[in-house]
Amino acid sequence: MGIWILNGLTVDANNVQTTKHVLVENDKIALVVDALSGDVPQTEGHEVIDAAGKLVSPGFIDMHVHLREPGFEHKENIATGTRSAARGGFTTIACMPNTRPVIDTVDTVNYILDKAATDGVVRVIPYGTITKNELGRELTDFAALKEAGVIGYTDDGVGVQSAQMMKDAMALAASLGMPIIAHCEDDTLVVGAPVNEGTFATKHGLKGIPNESEAIHVGRDVLLAEATGVHYHVCHVSTEQSVRLIRHAKQFGIKVTAEVCPHHLLLSEEDIPGMDANWKMNPPLRTPRDVQAVIEALEDGTIDIIVTDHAPHTEEEKAKGMLLAPFGILGFETAFSLLYTKFVLTGKWTLGFLVDRMTKKPADVFGLPYGTLEVGSVADITIVDLDTTKAVLKEEIVSRSKNTPFIGWELRGWPVVTIASGKVVYS
Ligand code: DOR
Ligand code: ZN
Ligand code: ZN
Repeated sequence: MGIWILNGLTVDANNVQTTKHVLVENDKIALVVDALSGDVPQTEGHEVIDAAGKLVSPGFIDMHVHLREPGFEHKENIATGTRSAARGGFTTIACMPNTRPVIDTVDTVNYILDKAATDGVVRVIPYGTITKNELGRELTDFAALKEAGVIGYTDDGVGVQSAQMMKDAMALAASLGMPIIAHCEDDTLVVGAPVNEGTFATKHGLKGIPNESEAIHVGRDVLLAEATGVHYHVCHVSTEQSVRLIRHAKQFGIKVTAEVCPHHLLLSEEDIPGMDANWKMNPPLRTPRDVQAVIEALEDGTIDIIVTDHAPHTEEEKAKGMLLAPFGILGFETAFSLLYTKFVLTGKWTLGFLVDRMTKKPADVFGLPYGTLEVGSVADITIVDLDTTKAVLKEEIVSRSKNTPFIGWELRGWPVVTIASGKVVYS
């Protein structure tokens, strides 16, 4: 028995919108029929989902997430994290290796993949670390990690401080045809600040994280990427300076790609209501000028894809306050509705643009065979109700943690059915 998804709205990157019927059989997309063709699908013996008026999209892909397992299961685990992803319409997620132990050995990669197979409801692809224990001192065994199934190398959570270490990492990754994914942060410029260096920090007497702490690594790394020929991917771009450097590197033909998070597209330091750690993340919320720069960078292709940096932390941890609480906010369950409401419904972006940056583009950047509704491809499908306006409610959050600044926001564009590898994993 398969699943017929009838009369759904499909959209391509050029925002061409078509009403289609889609048949899922086993784990594949078996048939796609133009609804205007007049061919009425034989639905007998199949499950039927009426998608009339709803968006039928390839399952969303999130290349930057924290699932916290192993080691921080009080924040999230693979079972809760993948269910949270499914609620947000994500069917492929790439998990960051800053777990405990960190993902720096074949054993830990195997642990993640085994857990994902038994506990997970969507596809989980791990990253391995660049350096052992993310300490920046010694490279991991890139070849063994690749063999075990990582999609790239990153020390996300911290920057790689040594230029020589980064250059060695890039050279090794390039020789294996693998990407380096960089959390860009120069520790000598940060000194333990909780927020951006700017108006909020000044008002509250806090130390600030300067823009240069990010951009200096971006600048250094694009030069190292040029020297080594590696595919270099910049995490969570948040500053105008980083955008400028990436744009320049791309014009030069350097193999660089980049990602941006919904919160950096939507919020600036001026929006932080007070000393509430649900507004604390790294990189921090920057100035309105930076926000405008990352929006324009996504629009002109300087920034390639949207990711969430889903970073769960418990209420107790976040209650420690702006100074002591850990960095990070949830991402999965509000990403699409936030961007649909604030960019598509306001006429700034087309629906096709938003969907492309969350599906096909990330698949292309990382060479994944997902993010498409083509016949024969894996049946990863997200159905989105584009009409219902609903508030973000804490009680409805599926993640084990609740740390988001978006509680109470009235949003439209809610995933209502998520199908991963042909199975309904959220409805
Ligand atoms: O906000 C963040 N949270 N930024 C990071 O770099 C790490 C992440 C986490 O692991 O919580
Ligand atoms: Zn990071
Ligand atoms: Zn991260």
